[in-house]
Amino acid sequence: MSNNLLAGKRGIIFGALDEQSIAWKVAERCVEEGAKITLTNAPVAMRFGKIFELGKALDAEVIPADATSQEDMDSLIDKSVELLGGKLDFVLHSIGMSMNVRKGRAYTDLNYDWMLKTFDISAVSFHRLMQTLYKKDAMNDWGSIMALTYIAAQRTFPDYNEMAESKALLESFARSFGYHFGKKNKVRVNTISQSPTWTTAGSGISGFKEFFDYADKMSPLGNAPAENCADFCVTMFSDLTKHITMQNLYHDGGFSNMGMSPDVLEG
Ligand SMILES: NC(=O)c1ccc[n+]([C@@H]2O[C@H](COP(=O)([O-])OP(=O)(O)OC[C@H]3O[C@@H](n4cnc5c(N)ncnc54)[C@H](O)[C@@H]3O)[C@@H](O)[C@H]2O)c1
Repeated sequence: MSNNLLAGKRGIIFGALDEQSIAWKVAERCVEEGAKITLTNAPVAMRFGKIFELGKALDAEVIPADATSQEDMDSLIDKSVELLGGKLDFVLHSIGMSMNVRKGRAYTDLNYDWMLKTFDISAVSFHRLMQTLYKKDAMNDWGSIMALTYIAAQRTFPDYNEMAESKALLESFARSFGYHFGKKNKVRVNTISQSPTWTTAGSGISGFKEFFDYADKMSPLGNAPAENCADFCVTMFSDLTKHITMQNLYHDGGFSNMGMSPDVLEG
């Protein structure tokens, strides 16, 4: 159902890999709500070909860009502004990848070159994105920039490995850049801390199934599905949330404020 919450707005959505991706659902909901968007992902992700299906369905241009490359970031933003016909109103950063998780390295045996690569892809790319938008003056006044994060930035989840520090850095960038972008032209910057969700990135974490079920039982509302995260993003991109900035917003069915759940004990 559309309420035209994003009518006339322009945006970029990073990170739609396949139908399970959170960004995929966000892209669909943004267009349903009247926005015009461009889609982007790393050139290597283009090989799967799925993002082009989404682009076709949503009448959205797909622009390959490695989020760690300044050249790619410059060109993505320039092309998006040109194709969409003006400055941007919203951007979603939905990127996460851990080299050490992918290679099965334990937290007590990390490869530091890979760790830096992980930080570059999963967190520094968010700063790079905002700095590029800022320098190019590519955001409209009262625009909204969001990134997706996880509660492992605040609490310890051993299997999340170095992604915990990536998310802590990402959330800190949202607060720090939120100040500068707010002063410049009232642009708000926030992170959404999402429940465990069945996606390529999510299911790459070891023991994900058990952990997903645990979080589901701990949360009085159950885990928040990707579709509901998309609804939340639409709200955050709309004019209904203009003064929310520099926040880490939990979208987790109540998990973050739970101490003990009888459902988990019974299990
Ligand atoms: N799935 C979960 O349980 C969960 C929970 C909380 C937060 N998140 C976060 O949500 C976001 C989206 O992840 P998802 O779960 O939808 O999984 P996903 O695997 O569908 O999305 C991750 C995306 O990052 C992209 N990416 C990786 N390296 C890149 C690079 N160098 N340049 C550009 N893009 C690159 C991938 O191609 C992919 O599209 C991530 O930030 C993730 O950490 C996920």
